[in-house]
Amino acid sequence: MTAYLDHNASTPIDGRVLDEMLPYLRFHYGNPSSVYRQGRIARQAIETARQQVALLVNAHPSQVVFTSGGTEANNLALKGSVVAPKCVAVSAVEHASVLASAQQLAIEACQLVRIEVDEDGLITEAAMSRALASGPKLVSIMLANNETGVIQDVARWADMAVSAGALVHTDAVQAVGKVEVDFSALGVQLLSLSSHKLYGPKGVGALVLDKRVELAAQMVGGGQEQGYRSGTENVAAIVGFGKAAELARLELQPRRLHTINLRQRLLQQLSQIETVAVFAGQVECLPNTVFLAVPGIDGEALLMEMDRADIAVSSGSACDSQKSGASQTLLAMGVDESLARCAVRVSIGKDNTDQDVDAFVSVVKQQIKALQENAMLAWA
Ligand SMILES: Cc1ncc(COP(=O)(O)O)c(C=O)c1O
Repeated sequence: MTAYLDHNASTPIDGRVLDEMLPYLRFHYGNPSSVYRQGRIARQAIETARQQVALLVNAHPSQVVFTSGGTEANNLALKGSVVAPKCVAVSAVEHASVLASAQQLAIEACQLVRIEVDEDGLITEAAMSRALASGPKLVSIMLANNETGVIQDVARWADMAVSAGALVHTDAVQAVGKVEVDFSALGVQLLSLSSHKLYGPKGVGALVLDKRVELAAQMVGGGQEQGYRSGTENVAAIVGFGKAAELARLELQPRRLHTINLRQRLLQQLSQIETVAVFAGQVECLPNTVFLAVPGIDGEALLMEMDRADIAVSSGSACDSQKSGASQTLLAMGVDESLARCAVRVSIGKDNTDQDVDAFVSVVKQQIKALQENAMLAWA
C-alpha cells in the first residue's frame, strides 16, 4: 500500500467531490453563458461553487474570480494589479509562480524588492521596513510556505504595507484547508487559492479580491468572470472546487487534529534520531508539514529509496520539480547549501495513518544505518 505523504504537492480527490462533478461532465454540458436551460444549470452550479469558496475564506461571492489554478491566480494578482511600471516587493520564499511573475515585471522596468526572511523562514519587522522604504505599489507575502510550512504573520505585514500605500497579495494556496483563512481579517486585497491542495480537482483555483483594486485581465475575450478572466468556465472543475471548499470548511478541525497528531508522532520519532535536522521546527507551521534533512544523504537519493518502499514524499516543491539543486527557501533562510540539498518534505493528509509515518521513519533509519556501514567500510 502506498504511503502518500506529499499532500502539499497535490491531494487525492475526495470521493464526495468527484460525485458532485460527474453530472457536469456527463449531462450538464451547456455553456454557462448560454441563456437556455442547459446554460442556466451550468451557471447556477458555478455560482453555488463561488459561494462555497467565498465562505471558506470569509469573502463575498462577488470577490471570487475562478482561474485555472494557483499559478494563474498568482500571475493575475501580480501582473494584473501593477498596471504601470512601478515597484513590487515579494518575500524571498515565495512560490515560483509569484517569483517568476515578479521577475517578468522587473524586465518591464518595474523595480523588484526582495523581502528577506530570518533563519526560521519568517519575515521580520526590520526586513519589512527595509522593503517598504523603496515604496512598493504591491507587496506579495505567502501565508504558508509550501516547503517548510512556516506561517507568516500576514495580517501584521499587510497592515504595515497598506499604511505605506501598497496593495497586498497573499498566496494562501498551502494554508487554506489546513488552517483558518479569513480574507477580511488578513487585511489583504488579493488572495490566491488552488483546488487540488484541498482534495479538489487540479486545474482550477481562484483569486479573491477587494473589488476596489484596479485589476487588468491577463486573459481577454468573452468577458467571463466579471471581465477579470475570459474563457468558457471549466464547470465540472469549479463545481468540484466548490464542494472541496465546503468540505474543507466543515471538516477543518478534525482534519487539523488528525494531521497534528501524525505530525507529532513523526517529530517525536525523528527526535530520537540524532543526525536528523528539522527545519523551522520551533515556529508556527502548517499542521501537516515537516521539512527535514539527513546530513550526508542527498534528498533526491532518499526520495528514490522512499519510492522503492512505495512511500511518496518530495525533495522540495513539486511545482519546482523541473529544477534540480538546493531548495531556494532553505537558502533564503541561510541554510548551508550542502544541508539544503539533503532536504525532504513530508506533508501529511487527512487519510494518512500511523503506519504511513512509521514506514517513512523506518526507511530513514535504514538509510542512516547504510550510510554508517559504508563509512565503516571506507575506514577499514
Ligand atoms: C504556495 C503555492 N502557490 C502556488 C502554487 C501553484 O498552484 P497550482 O498548482 O494550482 O498552479 C503552489 C503549488 O504547489 C503552491 O504550493
